[in-house]
Formats: sequence, structure tokens, C-alpha cells
Amino acid sequence: MPRTNETFDLVIAANRLPVDRVVGPDGEATWRTSPGGLVTAMESVMKGRDGAWVGWAGEAGQAPDPFVADDGMYLHPVPLSEDEVAHYYEGFSNDTLWPIYHDVIVPATFHRYWFGAYQAVNRKFAEAICQVAAEGATVWVHDYQLQLVPTMVRELRPDVRIGWFNHIPFPPVELFAQLPWRRAILEGLLGADYLGFQRVADSQNFIRACRQLLGLPTKGDTVSVSRSDSARRVRASAVPISIDFQGLEELAKQPETQQRAREIRESLGDPQTLIVGVDRLDYTKGIGHRIKAYGELLAEDKVAPPRETFVQVATPSRERVAAYQALRSEIEGEVGRLNGEYSRIGAPAVQYLHHAYPRHEMASLYLAADVMLVTPLRDGMNLVAKEYVTCRHDEGGALVLSEFTGAFHELHQAFVCNPHDIEGLKQTIMRAIQTPPKEKRRLMRAMRRRVADHDVQRWASRFLDNLAHAPERPSVPPGQAPSRPSPHVRAVHEAPANEPANEPAPAPAPAAPA
Ligand code: ADP
Ligand code: F6P
Repeated sequence: MPRTNETFDLVIAANRLPVDRVVGPDGEATWRTSPGGLVTAMESVMKGRDGAWVGWAGEAGQAPDPFVADDGMYLHPVPLSEDEVAHYYEGFSNDTLWPIYHDVIVPATFHRYWFGAYQAVNRKFAEAICQVAAEGATVWVHDYQLQLVPTMVRELRPDVRIGWFNHIPFPPVELFAQLPWRRAILEGLLGADYLGFQRVADSQNFIRACRQLLGLPTKGDTVSVSRSDSARRVRASAVPISIDFQGLEELAKQPETQQRAREIRESLGDPQTLIVGVDRLDYTKGIGHRIKAYGELLAEDKVAPPRETFVQVATPSRERVAAYQALRSEIEGEVGRLNGEYSRIGAPAVQYLHHAYPRHEMASLYLAADVMLVTPLRDGMNLVAKEYVTCRHDEGGALVLSEFTGAFHELHQAFVCNPHDIEGLKQTIMRAIQTPPKEKRRLMRAMRRRVADHDVQRWASRFLDNLAHAPERPSVPPGQAPSRPSPHVRAVHEAPANEPANEPAPAPAPAAPA
């Protein structure tokens, strides 16, 4: 149902809408869920809230008219031309910023005209936001694709409150400084009232960059936007994202989901140990390191199909970007080599699936997996890790988790690995397979408690509460209402009182060897 000229008290803006418009070979247009953790998290947050979502509908050309989705959310599409998709999205966002923000795992590409497109598209987003934001609205901007938007919105609409959350890491200043447009990006972000990051290290990297590259005064978790005594202050801190624990757990408990999990195992020949990886096909995810380690375990006969079976779901992603094309060839070549060498008829060494699946199928796969491999080289959070433990209401399964994910800072009871250390990774995989079920249940129970207590609604409440109080911290005595409450904070998921500046980093606690 198209609607126009409506305004909202809560506006969120992300590069993608929660649904992508896809035109089939028959010319028929359909909508399908957009890929990635941002959409998984924000879809749950927006359910039941009255707000608008500004974003790209996933195809080049004219944008559809604004419309209300089946779940009642108001979606406001932003059009991107072919050139803008190539230069703003595939180019500057995913071939310049993405590598710089992920430890330069692959080299970053710099083109001045890509930055020009990034500026132009950020301006389009800012204008679209201002069109749907009511007087005094809360505007919540998301991710690295929209870092210029906070200042652009502030210039157009000084009446609104502006927050920004980064779903990916924020790089150390030594890497960030490589960006020829580093000043423009920091100045773009400083238009916000509050900036949220996944980890303490990310928010500190940002604050340090403002001090060293812009020469701005910083104090604790705030940055002054000029040197004057009366300068506006911007707060930056860590608010780690999460998932809809209750909703996903309910899905995993459904008899159909459990039945499907059994079917998955049966169709794989009922392995003793089913090992699973689920990732966008992205070089940050460490899929190659994982396959190398598994290949060596096969060669050493420590694992063998069908007793151990490895399923790798590699979700299609950014398929026109050269680094992603190279990664796909590399991974598929390696999987082919392992299968040629170690598969038997009816018992492949590695089952490789290059598809997207509905949520209930993902839940069944998590339930079926005895060992889940989450081994990124760098990852803002990694929601797959939290989804896995959420689905394991039976307290079964074992999570192998890279110390370079945001999730590592919360899920201390995982089997922790450094994916660069292939020998260590092999040992960790074997420990996850061999640790006695009773001990694994204890570890799983503790991780489930953490995700249940820190779910996506609590994350959203904390973010919005921080935004409402910025540049001060919300400091609410237990049991009392906040002095300046955000109208969007749900009562049942109140932000924790006297929230610390940042979440403390945990002491790494690798699981004991079997
Ligand atoms: P990222 O945002 O980098 O993709 P996350 O692990 O944070 O990584 O989030 C990935 C999200 O995408 C999760 O919600 C996961 O369930 C979903 N997902 C990943 N692969 C698939 C797939 N093949 N089909 C459907 N959903 C997927
Ligand atoms: O969190 C990183 C991110 O870029 C998100 O914006 C999105 O959830 C995901 O990765 C998918 O990427 P893309 O939108 O480029 O397909």
C-alpha cells in the first residue's frame, strides 16, 4: 500500500531496506529478505515500533514508491543509479572502507570518483531522512556506508536527535589514516549526538582518530567538535548488538524445526559429528583458514566422512567486487580438491552450499550441528554465533569461536581459536568434537544465559537511551525512570542503570582440553 508525506518520531536509515526487490525471469517483481546481520537485528527491533526505515531496495534504477510492509513497517526506498551502485556501494563502501575497517585483509582500492559518489548518495539518504522525520524525531543511522549522513542531517534539520551505530569494526588510527578522506569521514560522524560501536576498542579507535587526525579535545568517551569551551560534545561508546533470543528460540523449539534437523542429519548419513559453518562468502570470515585446517585433519585421518561431515554454507555476497570473485574461486577450488581427495560415494568430505535459506531452515541447521565453526579474521559481532547458541535449547552442540569477533567478548565459554594459527585451530576443532557432552552442556548453558540476558531489544534500548542522554551517560538509580527517557525505549527492556562507559573486555577463557 503506497503512502507519502507521512512523518515519524523514529527514523532508521541503513544502506539496505530489510527487503530486496527482485525481478524474476518472467518480469514479475518479488521481495526477499536482505542479507546480513544488520537486517536480522533491526527487523526484530522495528517490529511493534512505529517508525520508518530509509534504505536502498537492492536494485539499480528507479526506486519503488514508499510503502507499508506486511509487518506494518513504513519503508522509504532511496534510488541508486547503476553508477552509484558501482561507485558508492561496490566501490567506496565495499572496496575502500570494508578492507580498511577489517585489518586490510585484502588491499583497499582508492578512487576519488568513488568518494564523490559516496558523498552524493549520503546526501540522498540525508534528504530522504529529513523528508520522513517528524519535528524533534530520533534519527538512527546505521553502518559504514552512511558515515557522512549525521552531519548532513544536522545541517538540514537541527531539531532532530541523531545517533549512528557501526555494525563492523572501527579501525586503529594507523589503518584509518590511510584514507585520503579521513577528515571528511570523522567530520561526517561528528554530526551525531551519540555514536555506538560493537567493542570498546572500536569506540576508542574512533576517539583517538578524532584527537590525532582532527586535533579535537577528547575527554573519556566524549569528543568536543571544536576547541571552544562551549563546543558541542559527542559521546562514543560500545553497545554490542544481539539477536531476538526469544523469537529464535521459539522457532527452534517448534516440532517442524526439530523434525527438519533430524532429516538434515539423516540425509547426511547420520554422522557421529556434524560440523557446520554459515557465513556470507566474505574474506573477513576466515572460510579459507577453516577449510585448510579441516583439510589437514582429513589428511591426518583425525576426521573422516561419513563419521565426521562438514557442511559449509557460503551465502552469496557482493558478487561483482573483484576480491569476492577471487575468494569464491579460491574456496570452491579448495572444496573441490578436498572432495576429490577424501570423499567416498555417498559420503562427501565437505558439503558446500552457495545459497540463502529461510530462517526456519537456518534454525534446523543450527539444531543439527554438533560443532559450529565461527572463525572470522575480523568481524564486528558475528550474529551467527549468537544464533547458534540461541537455537540450542537442548544445551547440545559446541561453538568454536574466533577471538577476532565481537561475539568473543561476550561468549567466554566458547572453544576459542586464533584462525591464523592453523595448528591451534585444528586442535580446537578436535577439542570441540571430543569434549564430553556434560562439559559441553555446561558451556552452552552459560552462553545461552548471556544471549538471553543481552538480547536485541536490550541492545536497542541501551542505544536509544544513550542517544537520549548524550553527551552524558544515562545514570539512573536502579528502579527509577530515566530523567530524559527516549520515547522509543521499551519498558520491559530498560537499559541497565549506571551503565559503564563501555563493556569491560573479558579475560579470554579457552575451554579446557578434553
Ligand atoms: P554479516 O552481517 O557480516 O553477514 P552476521 O553473522 O552478523 O554477519 O549475520 C549474518 C546473518 O545472516 C545472520 O542472521 C544469519 O542467520 C544470516 N545468514 C547467513 N547466511 C545465510 C543464508 N545462507 N541464508 C539465510 N540467512 C543467512
Ligand atoms: O554488517 C555488515 C554489512 O555490511 C551490513 O551492512 C549488512 O548486514 C551485511 O554486511 C551484508 O552486506 P551487503 O548489504 O553488502 O550485502
